[in-house]
Amino acid sequence: MRETSITMADTKTQPGSTSDELIFFVNGKKIVERNADPEMTLLTYLRRKLGLTGTKLGCAEGGCGACTVMLSRYQTHTQQLIHFSVNACLAPLCSLHLVAVTTVEGIGSVARKLHPVQERIAKAHGSQCGFCTPGIVMSMYALLRNNPTPNMSDVEEAFHGNLCRCTGYRPILEGYKTFTVEGGCCGGRGRDNGCCMANGNGAETDADEATTLFNTADFAPFDPTQEVIFPPELMSLTKGQRSGSLCFRGDRVVWLQPDSLDEFLRLKWEHPEARVVVGNTEVGIEVKFKSMVYPVILAPAFIPELNAVTHTADGVVFGAACTLSHMAAVLRQAVETLPPHQTEVFLAVLEQLRWFAGLQIRNVAAVGGNIMTASPISDLNPVFMAAGCKLTVMDKDGLRDVQMDDSFFTGYRKTTLRPQEVLLSVEIPLSKKSQFVSAYKQSPRREDDISIVTAAMSVTFTPGSDVVEDLRLSYGGMAATTVLAKKTANRLLGRRWGEELLQEACSSLAEEMNLDPSVPGGMVTYRRTLTLSLFYKFYLSVLQKLRAQGVNVDEVPSDCLSAAQIYHPETPSSVQVYQAVPEGRSQDDAVGRPMMHLSALKQATGEAIYCDDVPLYENELYLALVTSSKAHAKILSVDTSAAEVMPGVVCCVFADDIPGSNATGPIAYDETVLAQHQVCFCSSGQSGGSVRFRLMMCPSSLQVTCVGHIIGAVVADTQLHAQRAAKAVRVQYEELQPVVTIQEAITAQSFYQPIRTIQKGDLEAGFKQADHVLEGEMHMGGQEHFYLETNVTLAVPGEDGEMELFVSTQAACKTQSLVAKALDVPANKVVVRVKRMGGGFGGKESRTTMLSTVVAVAANKLNRPVRCMLDRDEDMLITGGRHPFYGKYKVGYLSSGKVVALDVSYYSNAGNSMDLSLSVMERALFHMENSYSVANVRGRGYLCRTNLPSNTAFRGFGGPQGMMVAENWMTDVAQSLGRPAEEVRRLNLYVEGESTPYNQILDQFTLDRCWDECLSRCGYQDRRAAVDLYNRQNRWTKRGLAIVPTKFGISFTAVFLNQAGALVHIYTDGSVLMTHGGTEMGQGLHTKMVQVASRVLGIPCSKIHISETSTNTVPNTSPTAASASSDLNGAAVQNACEILMKRLEPYKTKNPKGSWEDWVRAAYFDRVNLSTSGFYKTPDLGYDFDTNSGRAFNYFSYGVACSEVEIDCLTGAHKNLSTTIVMDVGHSLNPAIDIGQVEGAFMQGLGLYTLEELHYSPRGVLLTRGPGTYKIPAFGDIPTHLTVSLLRDAPNEKAIFASKAVGEPPLFLAASVFYAIKDAISASRAESGISGPFRLDSPASAERIRNACCDRFTKLCPPAEPGSFSPWSVQV
Ligand SMILES: Cc1cc2nc3c(=O)[nH]c(=O)nc-3n(C[C@H](O)[C@H](O)[C@H](O)COP(=O)(O)OP(=O)(O)OC[C@H]3O[C@@H](n4cnc5c(N)ncnc54)[C@H](O)[C@@H]3O)c2cc1C
Ligand code: FES
Ligand code: FES
Repeated sequence: MRETSITMADTKTQPGSTSDELIFFVNGKKIVERNADPEMTLLTYLRRKLGLTGTKLGCAEGGCGACTVMLSRYQTHTQQLIHFSVNACLAPLCSLHLVAVTTVEGIGSVARKLHPVQERIAKAHGSQCGFCTPGIVMSMYALLRNNPTPNMSDVEEAFHGNLCRCTGYRPILEGYKTFTVEGGCCGGRGRDNGCCMANGNGAETDADEATTLFNTADFAPFDPTQEVIFPPELMSLTKGQRSGSLCFRGDRVVWLQPDSLDEFLRLKWEHPEARVVVGNTEVGIEVKFKSMVYPVILAPAFIPELNAVTHTADGVVFGAACTLSHMAAVLRQAVETLPPHQTEVFLAVLEQLRWFAGLQIRNVAAVGGNIMTASPISDLNPVFMAAGCKLTVMDKDGLRDVQMDDSFFTGYRKTTLRPQEVLLSVEIPLSKKSQFVSAYKQSPRREDDISIVTAAMSVTFTPGSDVVEDLRLSYGGMAATTVLAKKTANRLLGRRWGEELLQEACSSLAEEMNLDPSVPGGMVTYRRTLTLSLFYKFYLSVLQKLRAQGVNVDEVPSDCLSAAQIYHPETPSSVQVYQAVPEGRSQDDAVGRPMMHLSALKQATGEAIYCDDVPLYENELYLALVTSSKAHAKILSVDTSAAEVMPGVVCCVFADDIPGSNATGPIAYDETVLAQHQVCFCSSGQSGGSVRFRLMMCPSSLQVTCVGHIIGAVVADTQLHAQRAAKAVRVQYEELQPVVTIQEAITAQSFYQPIRTIQKGDLEAGFKQADHVLEGEMHMGGQEHFYLETNVTLAVPGEDGEMELFVSTQAACKTQSLVAKALDVPANKVVVRVKRMGGGFGGKESRTTMLSTVVAVAANKLNRPVRCMLDRDEDMLITGGRHPFYGKYKVGYLSSGKVVALDVSYYSNAGNSMDLSLSVMERALFHMENSYSVANVRGRGYLCRTNLPSNTAFRGFGGPQGMMVAENWMTDVAQSLGRPAEEVRRLNLYVEGESTPYNQILDQFTLDRCWDECLSRCGYQDRRAAVDLYNRQNRWTKRGLAIVPTKFGISFTAVFLNQAGALVHIYTDGSVLMTHGGTEMGQGLHTKMVQVASRVLGIPCSKIHISETSTNTVPNTSPTAASASSDLNGAAVQNACEILMKRLEPYKTKNPKGSWEDWVRAAYFDRVNLSTSGFYKTPDLGYDFDTNSGRAFNYFSYGVACSEVEIDCLTGAHKNLSTTIVMDVGHSLNPAIDIGQVEGAFMQGLGLYTLEELHYSPRGVLLTRGPGTYKIPAFGDIPTHLTVSLLRDAPNEKAIFASKAVGEPPLFLAASVFYAIKDAISASRAESGISGPFRLDSPASAERIRNACCDRFTKLCPPAEPGSFSPWSVQV
């Protein structure tokens, strides 16, 4: 144990004194913890100590909300009970003294009684994989505890800190709208009695169309008076005593909680190095991700002076420990009561707080913490600096005032405070009559994101004039500290607020706010341009305000007004349309009905069990990986000596511990389970009575080929011990030159073989026939799966070499075979069990085996259960994602727009192993023409071998990349001809009976119907006219519109995978237990399978149960992938059920009036086998690349989407205004699930094409490793108007009950948003006289949008010459 030197007298926190008791309540039960560990978070305590596994771990950094719980406290100074949501992953256990914690288990359960927030999210189909659901439930619950009648904007705000990767958010909002004052009501636009609550959501429908996916009449009423009360004992404990000083001691850290300012100051004097912790939202991150250890923590959160709010004649003084939520509430009230001219600064602070983190963070994060962290991208510091806030700092000798100007921050994360000083308060001043203040934040995503550039500007005029008396321009994100643009401001003093000033300000800012081209964070041109663009916005808004005050300044031109507007989100509205089941069909037949996901209720209550929720085995150990920090290197030595002597460590695991083969991989065995090496042992002395060995690797053939390459593992008694020890393993490398990007691979000709080609027609003749030929290129970034549940495995050894694995995987059988291979046992000794996954999206199709095999090897070595759940940063680092693609094309087309020749080459960044890259590329090639008929075509696909972690399957599996390039050349063709893109697309669309480049004839073709319905539902022509009008009227905001089709081939392209099995048992009580080869990852597969079985067996779904997927029930299954699982497993289930029905037939005939149970019993007594397996294989498949013949796909799924966006040309931000989707899913097995898949896939595609960016350093290091830096779509990214219509009367002859696959096909429809953005950018470029095709790579991030809108500001910030510097990140 590390000693701390606490020397204060007079307090309970003396050295050697034992820990105090930590008293808190969880779900009404009192907990007295005598050994509270200052390093433990509430989340770990709940999950591991109390077994409350409903609260989930998604990121450990406050960025996903999966761990949301509600805290309640009685505030003695205000005599108020407060309830607030927090992230349990950041909440230190020790901060909870006299606090009541409510978790998802505490508010309701399926067995007991559901809380309405649990019931409604489930019944509204707002829970798919369910891993985010408890967190979302708790955010909503906390909101209702504070405000039983919220409005929709309250609900949206409550979800600023919650992410969901599956649902697309719409159903969650829809379900929770029913709690709001808006009441979920359409406002009388419904049919019949005018109320959508009774009749769907208000859309006009045809007779057999349905628009209701849930029925509000099924919801239990919400009665806020019935809530669990604050524990009376806690109330009296809190009221009866001052909390007093507290001390909690852990192995490495002491937590001191002083209860008076004097004591706090004295402690800080004695321990100047002590870390002050209030919200822990900064320190928690440093401890977890930067391995910081702070031996002494001072927690002053309950000191009255630090929480005081004082209104003075000059402003409002906030104690440094005031939370941001509290500060916002106080300022909002001040804005309501004070004269407007006094509240300019307050409004600027409120504007920053609106987009500051999520609510859970704002509820605990202190204003003092933000200032003292001194982050260069703090959102508040620029405002405080521009406004000239006054800080009061203190040590035990007294206090002093410090002006918040540019001398306050002395360096990166440094301030002028002396180590013994603390921040007492900050005064936010009232503004003057002639002062105007604005604040701006530009981040990749609006909600819960750190800024790229943040700015605050304050100008004071000589009263009654436009002459600048004082100007402060403060920027974050432009240097190592928050900075003032002093030179520019000084230049403008005494000048009049007009065009000349603007020009001078911009050229001066361009000079002053310069950045090194290699600066961390990159985006140099963009950041520089933003400083100007944001000033321009400020300039316009001040002009407006001056005119409003009657000062004679230029009027803001009407077309520039929208540039000065502050963004206010609109509450989204939506319509879902599907075909109702025919009247008269039995209610027991669930097929075609919008049945709720069978696990949804359990997911909403936290009762659904995920892999890491399996209770700990008595002798269980935890594993942490040791991975390479170099992209390409020889390993010279691996030194485990420090790790082996660390507390709790049991052993290290390396390649030598693998009894079988170390070669692994889903298709080719071209990877290692653990990096291969030779080992030699040398004694390194004794420790704790036992001889310790220093493990040295001989400097031989050991190579690592990516950052994150698994070298070894450490096994210890707890996760924390294993992780700490893994970090202590020292690896020495000899670095080799890595190949990181596609371009580098092309230069080095670093490709995997084979290079695939699909060719049809006569290319040469095609180009000859063409009136025009154009060439182009496009790069598409990769994508992180970001399943909310990271990779996790629990391996339990049995007898005779048996190994049972609980894994979160889409590929149970692949896991089984690779583990058996590594352990050198036959497959029959390995059982892999999958109950459910918290999302998969392809990321758990092959890469999961990397972890499960290592865990199994460790369990085998130690003969003890071993568990590992990857942290989010490890998961992102190790497991790869969607392949980045580069497409190069040459297109020949007629003047009409008809494309007659296409030569396209695709290059994918496959990474350091083959994995599934060849199949991914094949699918890209199979989709290279998207939905367009091109007579002469050649596509080639190159797999780049690079030193990145192997990229892998991801929803769409190459299709989205293949089609994206197609839409790019289609857009180029339209733009080069100056024709509307929608006309050129329509002209080129396939028609029924045509054949694809791989010679598959398109029958049952419905794309034209989808296209026409989409055009009419979105009112395309009117919309186009409105967009054009808007663009004529607005210079700095532009709208864009695009309609995009998709055609997606259904089947695994590896023919042998197109098979499935099922096993169905009927028990004598009539209940049915079923299992099949597919795994449940939220997509509702088990629900659909139960619906299928229910129809064939003729019994209600309630009699059928699926417990899990396992290799000992259905063998040799294919991964749950390729969207084909319902088709394949559904047919296998149907087969099994039909066999059983045949066996029951005699008993039905004999007793036609009998019940299902009667027939089952009769059959049983007659010794009939009531158990059977079923099997299915897709007929007539088999494409041959050599002959370009044979059927590649069983059928195609079709869809069309039209999207409208608005871009802010000055910042690159965009709004998704509207999307209309028409999707052909055949006869839907379950419209609620299918619409959920359409919306979820669309939102994931929206992330892919407009938001999500993985940044890699030039040396191949992934820089974006968590939700803090990698942004998936949030609630606010849903299109404001979203319509999803499932095509009617479109039965599919080739799949179960005429349905179609739906998981992957709709993802590409999000390309409509990308091309709408491109359309809007074109309108912006036209203002600068630029027309014709231009390159826009994917994603269309704010940076790319801004840079593409060339204008007077971008001209002032030209990019540095490529090659003249080493960039922070490279396009891989
Ligand atoms: C998910 C997430 C999102 C975030 N989003 C944003 C964002 O949008 N914008 C933004 O600007 N920041 C953001 N942050 C950063 C962080 O939330 C803020 O900086 C917050 O205000 C820190 O407050 P805290 O009380 O949690 O600090 P703590 O972690 O408790 O402490 C932070 C630092 O301040 C020091 N400190 C605290 N109080 C005092 C005091 N009285 N005297 C002296 N030193 C003191 C501590 O010693 C410590 O070094 C985010 C963080 C997370 C985890
Ligand atoms: S796990 Fe706590 S916010 Fe993600
Ligand atoms: S349901 Fe939200 S992450 Fe899966």
